[in-house]
Amino acid sequence: MKRRVLFVCLGNICRSPAAEAVFKDVVQRSGREQEFEIDSAGTAAYHRGEKADPRMIDRAAIRGIEVTSISRPVVDEDFEKFDYIIGMDRNNVQDLKERCKKEAHQSKISLMSDYCTKHKVPAIPDPYYGTIHDFDYVLTLLQDACEELLKQLIVEN
Ligand code: 4NP
Repeated sequence: MKRRVLFVCLGNICRSPAAEAVFKDVVQRSGREQEFEIDSAGTAAYHRGEKADPRMIDRAAIRGIEVTSISRPVVDEDFEKFDYIIGMDRNNVQDLKERCKKEAHQSKISLMSDYCTKHKVPAIPDPYYGTIHDFDYVLTLLQDACEELLKQLIVEN
């Protein structure tokens, strides 16, 4: 059975598309791509249908990571379909918890920065109004979190 992982931020054009791409890269390098289904979505729909922010696409490409997702909002079926629903900051997690109608699915929701082991941060910060350095920092945090996330999912299996 595949494990299904959904990364969620506000707009689904900066952080969660990058998280999706970084986790796909980490999973692929471990040779386990058949074991996972990986996607991303936004709590807001403002950017529906758009490619990721070009600054994120460019900064990820420098690390050899291809960001390909097209923005879509979270839908109710996501709470049924995905096993792990991971918000980038506390607002994302709060919004997800409020939208998740079934009590049994609440435990699927977690906070991405809680998987970081090298960096102690309360959230993956929104880089949208920031500089290139903020996009690089997000990618560094996501690489840290994704490596630990894969380790935890392998142990759980
Ligand atoms: P994301 O970043 O949630 O990481 O995709 C943002 C993208 C767009 C906006 C805010 C944050 N916005 O206000 O349009």
